[in-house]
Amino acid sequence: MTHIPNREEALELLTTYTKNPSLIIHAKAVEACMRYYARKHGEDEEKWGVVGLVHDMDWEQFPEEHTKKTREILEAANWPEEYIRAVESHAYLTCTEVIPESLMEKTIYAVDELTGLIRTTALIRPSKSVLDVKVKSVKRNWKNKRFAAGVDRTVIERGAAMLGMEIPDLIHDCIEAMKEVAEELELKGNL
Ligand SMILES: [Fe+2]
Ligand SMILES: [Fe+2]
Repeated sequence: MTHIPNREEALELLTTYTKNPSLIIHAKAVEACMRYYARKHGEDEEKWGVVGLVHDMDWEQFPEEHTKKTREILEAANWPEEYIRAVESHAYLTCTEVIPESLMEKTIYAVDELTGLIRTTALIRPSKSVLDVKVKSVKRNWKNKRFAAGVDRTVIERGAAMLGMEIPDLIHDCIEAMKEVAEELELKGNL
């Protein structure tokens, strides 16, 4: 029987398969953005957050099978297909061919890489804090290809287009979402 996973269970699974603190912070940053947008759209905040938490769960141990291992693990744990599909769709065109369709899927697609750009922007500030990161700072770094070179800008653009959103608005929302959990993301810095 399928059951509805909660945050505690998602965190337990995440930390079972992922030990790298940086990857755990990434998962929590994506979770924060997902929760923010779930609230904004009147959707199920716990569900969206849980998907954010586990989306890269298999990355550390099974990078060649990214999202495929997660499917196996979550199926074995009787997670609903809706959650598993959302995880697969976040890697559309990079690791899977699962097109983001639902609002939840489009949202994780749009915010995933952007959280990395915001985090790096925060860490190079004198404050080392996300609390005073401005949209324009992220936009400036966006254009510098050597800055956070691992962040695929085209994925973010595709995600924003799917949502019918302007990039600056997406950046704004993700900064606000990450501010809410700055401490957990180790991004309070000296503020
Ligand atoms: Fe991923
Ligand atoms: Fe990710």
